[in-house]
This record gives sequence, C-alpha cells and structure tokens, in this order.
Amino acid sequence: MIPTDFTFVGKHYAARTHEKMREVLMNPDAPGPEVHYYMIRGGETQRNITVWEPGLVGGEYIKTYGHYHVGELDETYWIIFGEGLILKQKMTNDPTVVEEFSITRVTQGDSVFLAPGYGHLAINIGSTFFVTADDSPVRFDDPDPAGLPGHADYEPVRKMRGFAYYVIEQNGGPALVRNTNYAAIRKEDLAGLLVVK
Ligand SMILES: [Fe+2]
Repeated sequence: MIPTDFTFVGKHYAARTHEKMREVLMNPDAPGPEVHYYMIRGGETQRNITVWEPGLVGGEYIKTYGHYHVGELDETYWIIFGEGLILKQKMTNDPTVVEEFSITRVTQGDSVFLAPGYGHLAINIGSTFFVTADDSPVRFDDPDPAGLPGHADYEPVRKMRGFAYYVIEQNGGPALVRNTNYAAIRKEDLAGLLVVK
C-alpha cells in the first residue's frame, strides 16, 4: 500500500555510533568512524534499509551490533549492494555455549533467511558501502523504534562482547578470531575462513 500518512517519517532514521559499538568490538579502545552504520526503518510493509560504512576498526571489519529476536520471529535479508558476511548463532541454555554458529558470504542480489532463535549480525568486507533491506517489524510507539526496535534483544550480545567470532582483515581478506568469552561451540560452519586466534 502506498502511504499517505507521514506521521512516523521523523522516526525512520537512526545511526549506530562508535560509542555504542565499543560494547561489542574486539578492540573497544581502537579508533573508529563516528557512525558504523545507518538504519532507515519502515518495518514489515515498507522494509528496513541498513547501510554499513566500509572499513576496519582495530583490525575488525565494520559490523552491526548483532541481536536475537524476541519471540518466534524470522527475518529475510536482501543484499542490495556490496560484499558482506552474515553471522548466525544459536545458543544453548548456557549463555557461554553456542549450539550452532555459521557464516554466509553474500553479495548484491543474494538473500538470506534467518529462522527464529538465530542471533545474527552482518559485516561489510568490501571497500564500498554495504546495503541491505530486511522485513523485520517496527512499532513506531516504541521509545526508540529505529535505533533499538522492540523485536530485537541486544543484551546477550552486549554481555558476551560480541558473537563467538570476530572477523578481522588478514592478507586482504576476512579471517576469524575466537571471542574467548564463549566457552564452546558445538557445531560450526565457517565458510572456509581461517581461524587465526
Ligand atoms: Fe533481526
């Protein structure tokens, strides 16, 4: 449906700052861009657009914060531009033990389906902006619908200071560093990427 009501347009945009991202960086004290990524939220009907800056922060490629969904909510990402990685992880009841972890390489034209229960984040491994659309819901009466939408739970990621692996640049491409806050990963698919630490 084509909108004729523009009430919520002022609530569509948010930016994820370096200050906030420091909570989940491999090297939180490394310098970085003022903003890591930009979010324009239209929700399920209008879609949400995310734009990542390209670059490295303390050796790590610029990424989204990462979150789990509240409730049984799936999500599809459509890659509009650039080159990236989608990281997924499903936890056990123990917050330090990962049931399943996987990495998917994506480029313009790809789409990725995220089943309920899988936390996810996306990483820009290219030299241009990385741009996606997704269909996650937004409630514009939430306190911060664009920056911290109510369907997303960021807290487990904050507590563990990121996902089970950090993605760094090595010899011009992505490689992995284990986040040692996680004690174990039961099953993993690393898309052929090398674990350097
Ligand atoms: Fe999501």
